[in-house]
Amino acid sequence: MPDRPLTTIAYTADPAADRAFYVEVLGFEPLEAGADGSVRLAYGTAPRRELVLARPPDAKASGNGAGNGAGNGAGNGAATGHIRLAVQAQDVERLYRRAAARGADLTGEPEQTDGGGRRLRVRDPRGITVDVYEPDPAPAGRGERPGLGYQGNSERAAAPGTGGIPEAMLTLRVLMNSATPWALRVAVTLGIPDQLAAGVDGVEELASRSGADPDALSRLMRYLAHKEVFAETGPDRYALTEVSQLLRSGHPAGMTGWLDLNGASGRWSRTYVDLLSAVRTGKPVYEDVYGQPFWTDLAESPALSTSFDTLMAQQSRWSAPLVADAYDWSDARHVVDVGGGSGTLLATILKANAHLRGTLVDRPSTVDLARPALDAAGVADRCTVVGGSFFDPLPAGADVYLVANVMHDWGDPECVAILRRCAEAVPRSGRVVITEGIVGGSGDQSFVSELDLLMLVAFGGRERSVEEFATLAREAGLRLLCVHPTVSGMSLIECGR
Ligand SMILES: C[S@@+](CC[C@H](N)C(=O)[O-])C[C@H]1O[C@@H](n2cnc3c(N)ncnc32)[C@H](O)[C@@H]1O
Repeated sequence: MPDRPLTTIAYTADPAADRAFYVEVLGFEPLEAGADGSVRLAYGTAPRRELVLARPPDAKASGNGAGNGAGNGAGNGAATGHIRLAVQAQDVERLYRRAAARGADLTGEPEQTDGGGRRLRVRDPRGITVDVYEPDPAPAGRGERPGLGYQGNSERAAAPGTGGIPEAMLTLRVLMNSATPWALRVAVTLGIPDQLAAGVDGVEELASRSGADPDALSRLMRYLAHKEVFAETGPDRYALTEVSQLLRSGHPAGMTGWLDLNGASGRWSRTYVDLLSAVRTGKPVYEDVYGQPFWTDLAESPALSTSFDTLMAQQSRWSAPLVADAYDWSDARHVVDVGGGSGTLLATILKANAHLRGTLVDRPSTVDLARPALDAAGVADRCTVVGGSFFDPLPAGADVYLVANVMHDWGDPECVAILRRCAEAVPRSGRVVITEGIVGGSGDQSFVSELDLLMLVAFGGRERSVEEFATLAREAGLRLLCVHPTVSGMSLIECGR
């Protein structure tokens, strides 16, 4: 769990004027103001949450201090924004009485939510609707990151025989080690963890079953035993440890696919060999290494494409409930998931919102994979799949265009082109919701930065800050309205026309 607060950013032309409502009516705790004139307010606990009322980034960039009408309808008085905030359970009734006593614009009395909590809907002075929720009890396991949540390496503290070596040198040794990432990948690609799980523990037999040289495999196993990936149980005999249990295929953590050198992740991992070139030129090297861009590779290799889609679906399975929960879908009827992959997120949203229908747009081979997944989730009758490109016109007239984990694969011109397709398709009352990790946001910044390097070296994309998303949105004819964080580290960046 990050110790940074989860920060929702709401854009308004006059942060100071809106502050009183949030402090006096909703009982938020005022914090030190931001240097840029933004207002910071705290509310809730576990995780600690903050609301930042800020001038729209595009207004700041243009030096237009009075705002340009962007940000939750600020500037025109129209009720166009919708923010969802969660406060502690026992507060809702009290909050209702206080708000009523202060003449706040309440849309009704507290009401029951599907999850068993209470909800109160209030409008701020600009007509922005704020849903104040009692948090529903989190389902078991939420908030824990399986998959890519690599948390560093404890080997330094454990290593014997390192007396007298300065602390910084020990740190550097761990950082500069290039053997471990590849030794791990090779062991997984050879299927060693599965063999050990099946009771094959001798190196000779492991080598013959996996098609490896016995001496070389013995040296690999010895190295990985030093790293506590395997346990040495006798001469050239090994067993799984807690760490390598995670590397069995079929383990719910689903790590095998990320490390298998024959899959999509293995292929893009190898591009790090040319990171120097990417850093010198600012250009991805995937094409230099493999002769064509990643997406062309996928189009030509069904196996590679399936491996990629499976990884994305697996990653999405963990974050989808958190993303679905972070946004208020009650006013929407139709959601288009742009580059929605195998439909995991869309299925989760549709399952939780029986009134919604969905359209999934992705590459033809990917939507073929999505059909059975949508069927299995029981939402196929409310969902249409469209095999096509998000650089072409999108199905028009939906209430929400969701763009999840897509922007970071692309450079700025492609992102603007995708968002422009969304802007063309979305009606004035609709929303474009970008879902991604944010540079400088509440998610694990070390992980965001790791992804950023991967995007640089392999795809020519990047991770972005709120300001960078605001600029892309503006260039595509959209304006940033609100940033909804989730405990997954992903945020929903809500834009309108
Ligand atoms: C990183 S994945 C994200 C998938 C999904 N939204 C998620 O959050 O798991 C990027 C998606 O963009 C899709 N994609 C790439 N190029 C595309 C194109 N030109 N048109 C439509 N989809 C595309 C890929 O097939 C993939 O599903």
